[in-house]
Amino acid sequence: MSDYLSKLDSHAARIKETNLRTLFAQNPERFAEFSVRFDDLLIDFSKEKIDAPALAALFDVARAANVAAARDAMVGGEHWNLTEDRAVLHMALRGGANPPAGDNVEGTLDRFLAFAEDVRTGRYAPKTGRFTDVINIGIGGSDLGPVMVARALEPDRDGPRLHFVSNVDSAHLTDITKDLDPAHTLVVIASKTFTTMETMINAQSARQWLRDAVGDEAGQHMVAVSSNIEGAAEFGIEESRVFGFWDWVGGRYSIWSAIGLPVAIGIGAENFRAFLAGAAAMDNHFINTPFEQNLPVILALVGVWRRNAMGWPTVALIPYDQRLERFPAYTQQLDMESNGKRITRQGAPVATSTSPVIWGEPGTNSQHSFFQLLHQGTDVIPVDFIVAAESRDGASEHHTTLLANCLAQGKAFAFGRTEDEVRARMAKKSAAQEEIDRLAAHRVFPGDRPSTTILHRRLDPFSLGRLIALFEHKVFVQGVVWNVDSFDQWGVELGKELAVNLLPSLKDGSSADHDVSTAGLIAAIKGLS
Ligand code: F6P
Repeated sequence: MSDYLSKLDSHAARIKETNLRTLFAQNPERFAEFSVRFDDLLIDFSKEKIDAPALAALFDVARAANVAAARDAMVGGEHWNLTEDRAVLHMALRGGANPPAGDNVEGTLDRFLAFAEDVRTGRYAPKTGRFTDVINIGIGGSDLGPVMVARALEPDRDGPRLHFVSNVDSAHLTDITKDLDPAHTLVVIASKTFTTMETMINAQSARQWLRDAVGDEAGQHMVAVSSNIEGAAEFGIEESRVFGFWDWVGGRYSIWSAIGLPVAIGIGAENFRAFLAGAAAMDNHFINTPFEQNLPVILALVGVWRRNAMGWPTVALIPYDQRLERFPAYTQQLDMESNGKRITRQGAPVATSTSPVIWGEPGTNSQHSFFQLLHQGTDVIPVDFIVAAESRDGASEHHTTLLANCLAQGKAFAFGRTEDEVRARMAKKSAAQEEIDRLAAHRVFPGDRPSTTILHRRLDPFSLGRLIALFEHKVFVQGVVWNVDSFDQWGVELGKELAVNLLPSLKDGSSADHDVSTAGLIAAIKGLS
């Protein structure tokens, strides 16, 4: 373990001897001491198994890891992405940092927002009528950001309907196009590299779908977003409809670029600019706020505490917000593609655990599926809740009930219910002694299970931008603490390469030097199809 992380050990040993009930009983100021605010955004981490000396030690970890210097290097345009030798400047897309000299960020933003407005107003339209629907074809960062944001900001959408096709499985494109009219559909091909196998195959099939319906007009129905302008041109997209971005924007950090085009078509330029402004507000907070009040730094350190000091390998991310239903999937790529690494920036094996497994589903639905395990299973799984004080749909029984459930779960995880309490409650309800003896153990909630609650006023373009940037910076800080390159993704390469090599065997049965399992599966597929 890194020297600075091993300094957490003694604190962890102390904390493992206590529990959340005791920590709360000992300190009536716990909420005030273990929560932080930035405007209407609040992070309550008082239900984490942490105390003041442990928190102080975590801030020491951030200082020992030189988080501030790393942040300044990234913001200053140094090639912080070492293995790909690139700057990391997605913050420049929203005014949070300066772009490299010569890269016209403002002009590019103006251009794709103007195109979005043209589609919305019908200035850019198909031969008859208007574009009523937009299909975004992309995968990974060219899908998860746009689809997550589109779902989250559905109340702001007054433009065409937005659809997303990512999987190379034909089912995805088939089922999305089933009810769409190609004559009124615009297809956005989104791919930073414009070489991703799945996206290229889906783009070809979508083009065929358009051609079958509108013939030569199909070209007018297609636009591309890419940093590979030549690749998009080769595919046949007219230059005026190719929207570029730069190699200093990582795929999973690209929603702020023209990758946000479908969102902008849906919600309009003004809302899109509010989304960028929310992220810039978080950038400013991240850069200028002391660690002790710095939301992304604190969120990151709580994660380090869970992972490295307490040894918990997964995190459940539970938005109590249906419109954030794709936020866990988005965060999976952000966290796990960034920090799921086992080699340090210097090329040696890491000496510590890195990214936890992130997973989750919105509440309240998840309460009725996997929360049983979270409450009474044999593993401790820390939970991050995200919830808004207000609903975009107005005050109602729905939202109060949603909030009550969110807070109830955090309480139940932290404080549980002891066997004595179970027995007393059952006796009060006049249960027979035999019944109490039979069921008491089953009805115990061990509690002492940590959670953090991220609360904001409401989910809108500004607050969503701020929330995403909060998570981006959290991931950055953790990557610095773990000393990994958070901006490469070599771990996706082998599978891509092997898939290309497997195609001939699956297509025409040509033999290759496959292991017996793979050869057996190929033979079985041939036998079944
Ligand atoms: O799967 C890896 C990856 O490179 C992601 O990092 C990226 O977001 C995704 O593929 C899609 O890449 P592209 O935008 O170049 O099609």
